[in-house]
Amino acid sequence: MIEIKNLTVSKDKKPILKGLNLHIRPGEIHAIMGPNGAGKSTLAKVLAGDPSYDVDGGEVLFKGQNIVEMEPEERAHLGLFMSFQYPVEIPGISNFQFLHTSLNARRKAQGNQPLTEEEFSHLLEEKMELMEMKKEFKERNVNEGFSGGEKKRNEILQMAVLGPCFALLDETDSGLDIDAMRIVAKGVNSLLQEDKALLLITHYQRLLEYIRPHFVHVVIDGKIALSGGAELALHLEEHGYDSYSLRK
Ligand SMILES: Nc1ncnc2c1ncn2[C@@H]1O[C@H](COP(=O)(O)OP(=O)(O)OP(=O)(O)O)[C@@H](O)[C@H]1O
Ligand SMILES: [Mg+2]
Repeated sequence: MIEIKNLTVSKDKKPILKGLNLHIRPGEIHAIMGPNGAGKSTLAKVLAGDPSYDVDGGEVLFKGQNIVEMEPEERAHLGLFMSFQYPVEIPGISNFQFLHTSLNARRKAQGNQPLTEEEFSHLLEEKMELMEMKKEFKERNVNEGFSGGEKKRNEILQMAVLGPCFALLDETDSGLDIDAMRIVAKGVNSLLQEDKALLLITHYQRLLEYIRPHFVHVVIDGKIALSGGAELALHLEEHGYDSYSLRK
């Protein structure tokens, strides 16, 4: 599904990712952990197509195509979805408008008919119910004035509406209360079918009890320093990164 090969990325000549390799196959859930500043969010932004980072080497193959030079919209139309650590607010545009436009743009790119407002309204309400969100969020401006946890939940609503093939969620669990964690996990799990893949960036084992990863990777200083199964997350939480002598 997605293959990251020897990816090197810098910002203002400062190297951040230093040869990162990761292969995620359809149906797999991977988790990335690692200390602050290791480069996890940078990976998320580069995969989304953030132009403020320089990709100095390597490639990212998504369904066999190298996406490194593609515009963010093209990537989204291929079925790539990113939820960011700090979701952006979009003043003046309601959740309904934003999601209706985003979904129809993707449908158009895939050669499908657009959904009418009425058709889309049904879909949105169904997904909002899944995410246990109040109806008022339909008309509220995207993330404007949302609490931290509401923003995270709204990101998963976006994902549920767009139905991507591959999603990367960056610290979607941080700041969620206990019920919201369960609801977010329910939204994510509802999307997972055999052919979809997921990459979760998290600091905590807790989310991984709800969304069980097949593989856990530890990013240190811009590279994957260690990979293992779900049990690795538990071990890291108990013993810390230093127990593996992974730090420089
Ligand atoms: N726009 C930027 N300008 C300058 N430095 C940056 C920028 N973006 C990232 N960096 C640096 O790159 C490194 C990696 O940052 P990144 O946000 O990817 O870390 P992270 O692994 O997501 O950390 P955290 O666990 O704290 O979220 C950090 O040292 C950060 O300061
Ligand atoms: Mg981060």
